[in-house]
Amino acid sequence: MIAIGSDHGGFALKGEIIAHLQKRSFEVKDFGTYTEASCDYPVYAKAVAKAVAAGECDKGILICGTGIGVSMTANKIRGIRAALCGDCFSAEATRLHNDANVLTLGARVTGPGLALKIVDTFLDTPFSGDERHIRRISQIED
Ligand code: RB5
Repeated sequence: MIAIGSDHGGFALKGEIIAHLQKRSFEVKDFGTYTEASCDYPVYAKAVAKAVAAGECDKGILICGTGIGVSMTANKIRGIRAALCGDCFSAEATRLHNDANVLTLGARVTGPGLALKIVDTFLDTPFSGDERHIRRISQIED
């Protein structure tokens, strides 16, 4: 199950990502926002991050205008490793090296075509499992 959420800045892209993921047969839980009305990104970032941290969802995707606010918020939740990605190299590397469990995107920065490729790269890349990366990840939460 993929948890997804956005503020108004990411609302349109969220819809495109949900349709894309459903076409790929992923189950998706949409934590809102559900309209284009102006809203506060931490509300949605916390809901998605908590669902992932609690194990209710396998991974999370968060979108705001820049991807920065939702990333800052999600990373406050223990167990969350949220990565703001604007390219596929970063999306692949953060899965391989950081075992990132939340992807954040900036809808005003990254166009929808690239955003869908970043989503696919993120979800299709496993964690490397390398000892040095396990050690470094454990140091994040020390
Ligand atoms: C909303 O205008 C904007 O501040 C928000 O989407 C996001 O970019 C915050 O980091």
